Amino acid sequence: MSETPEDGAIEPGISVHWREEARIDPPPAFVRQATAHDRKLFETLSSAHFPEGFRRHAALLQWDHPFEAVLDQTNPPFYRWFPGGRLNATVNTLDRHLREARDRVAYYFVPEDESEDITPLTYGELAERVNQLAGILRDRFGCKAGDRITIHLPMVPELPIAMLACARLGIIHTVVFSGFSGKALGNRIVDSESRLLITMDGYYRNGQWLDHKVKADEAYLAAASEGVRLEAVLVFERHPGHYRSASALRDGQDVLMTPHLLDQSRSRIDAVPFESNEGLFIMYSSGTTGRPKGCLHGIGGYLSWVTATSRDVLDLKPGDVYWCMADIGWITGHSYIVYGPLSIGATSVLYEGVPNFPDAGRPWRIAEKLGVEILHTSPTAIRALRREGPDAPHRYHPPFRLLATVGEPIEPETWRWYHDEVGHGKAVVVDTYWQTETGGHLLSILPGLDPMKPGSAGPALPGIEAAIYDTEGRRLAPGSGRAGILAIERPWPGLMLGIWKDPARFRSTYFEPLKRGAQQDRWLYCTHDAAMQSADGYFRILGRTDDVINVAGHRLGSKEIESAALTVPGIAEAAVIPYPDPVKGHVPLLFVATRPGTSASKGISRSVEAAVTESIGPIARPKAVLIVSDLPKTRSGKIMRRLLRALAENQDPGDLTTLANPESVDAIRGILRQMS
Ligand code: WTA
Repeated sequence: MSETPEDGAIEPGISVHWREEARIDPPPAFVRQATAHDRKLFETLSSAHFPEGFRRHAALLQWDHPFEAVLDQTNPPFYRWFPGGRLNATVNTLDRHLREARDRVAYYFVPEDESEDITPLTYGELAERVNQLAGILRDRFGCKAGDRITIHLPMVPELPIAMLACARLGIIHTVVFSGFSGKALGNRIVDSESRLLITMDGYYRNGQWLDHKVKADEAYLAAASEGVRLEAVLVFERHPGHYRSASALRDGQDVLMTPHLLDQSRSRIDAVPFESNEGLFIMYSSGTTGRPKGCLHGIGGYLSWVTATSRDVLDLKPGDVYWCMADIGWITGHSYIVYGPLSIGATSVLYEGVPNFPDAGRPWRIAEKLGVEILHTSPTAIRALRREGPDAPHRYHPPFRLLATVGEPIEPETWRWYHDEVGHGKAVVVDTYWQTETGGHLLSILPGLDPMKPGSAGPALPGIEAAIYDTEGRRLAPGSGRAGILAIERPWPGLMLGIWKDPARFRSTYFEPLKRGAQQDRWLYCTHDAAMQSADGYFRILGRTDDVINVAGHRLGSKEIESAALTVPGIAEAAVIPYPDPVKGHVPLLFVATRPGTSASKGISRSVEAAVTESIGPIARPKAVLIVSDLPKTRSGKIMRRLLRALAENQDPGDLTTLANPESVDAIRGILRQMS
């Protein structure tokens, strides 16, 4: 448990300490062509018109059967958008573009190896490949609406193809980030009770061939040991016809896809319309407890939200060349590489590798070559590219008109480099704040209507009623400049349907934390982020108030890391904190206490590190594993992570008299000094 201060004030890990910056108007050339340029939008989506204003969002989609109401809010917090309406996500992302834009490129697949050709995939070709795979899933494996399929694929065209093949049939896909370990994959297969796993033999990352299929084997066994036996593992080949994994294909488990695809080259699957609130996908995300939560998103509300925000925030228009340099294995990729851009009819770049391979000029080269007008990436990627190639953007001339960021706060210095150097001062910069749970953007400027402000995520989007509360449920005055918890006061269409198989947890995690005092009867969505709002209405995000650690824009649960450490024999206790990092924002710093009889050694640290990467993946690798004799605890026995964090950051740890073991503090200070 993390400790909550008693007096209603909030003490987040302040990850943002910069001062207010002046606002900057977007370039007039941008504003003139922006799709969202009419202030009436704010009126349409104001609280006076709630929820009817969201008809505008639904109108961006093609419905096979009209909805009966905009919102069913009879059973809060289980909101149902556009109930009774029927639609198919792939009609909206594919079929509806085929008449006018069959030959428009949907994805440029850019392999990491620069000598391998870039492959364009048109909307027509994408639709064909989606139908073909949907045919195999239905006819060969008997998959049907409501089933779950886990997808563990790298950044290759097969990934969106597999997602859309599921969506066409109403199968709920659950994509697991390719960097996750076999064990983590196995857990997610178990929780979602998936029938199939879709994977690939391997892929390229950082100039290396990574064997990927071996993780499927591990996951298959892990899931079976917990009673979920996959019916099959579908294995794509990175180079069709050339199987390259060290793990041999196993009878009764693996199905090599290349020959099947040849057999089923011309299948055409009718798109069955589904009710708006049927499940589209599950995306696992970390939270306060050790078990990742399956965030379940629906069809109509989710798709309308990502389509509207792609248009209004990213200014995506049909045919625009756009690159979201994120991984589809996270929510950003789901919403802003797959569903949003395809629903708009844009042309996206799908890049296999890491941004700085083979050098920090690579993204700018790709963007110049393909004519990328809109770029979307994370502050971590921007920091890394800046550090390795501060002048690289000057060697290339991509036609950028909008540069977006997501995932963590972007500090003004990095913002300025993005704006001045990457955008040559000609592109608008948009900082988008949101979460896996929220489906799409919540806070951001509308770049055709609002000024930019470095270091601030921006105001709430039209239709989002954001406010700051203290931990006692008192609403802080708008624009007070005081820190509190960011809450959303009314539902919006992108909000997830719930947590897979766990409605009680959905309610308790997001809607009960702020049910206090005057808010007893309200259903405020708690973001678990600390934030402050300045007088101009712009919000600044200060960091998570729960046990989530944001590493390079990826969400990791403290409990997951600590549980992994505790699997190592001899480890008695573990506590992990986010430690500031110049590129990744934060990295995990792990403290462990050993059992009597186990002495502190390099070997123990290494075993703990290995246990963490094996159980979660290399992204969770701690900066260091520090062995201490005792972790600081309250008298009731809770480990004081907040105190560890203050010590690690060399800040005043505050009153130590309430600790059960104040003597632990000096020892920890000593160990931290050795680390730095
Ligand atoms: C953080 C990613 C500051 C925040 C889309 C949130 C941000 C968590 C921003 C969600 C931003 C996301 N500025 N912090 N623009 N965007 N965050 O679920 O702490 O992977 O709660 O969704 O990332 O991470 P998730």
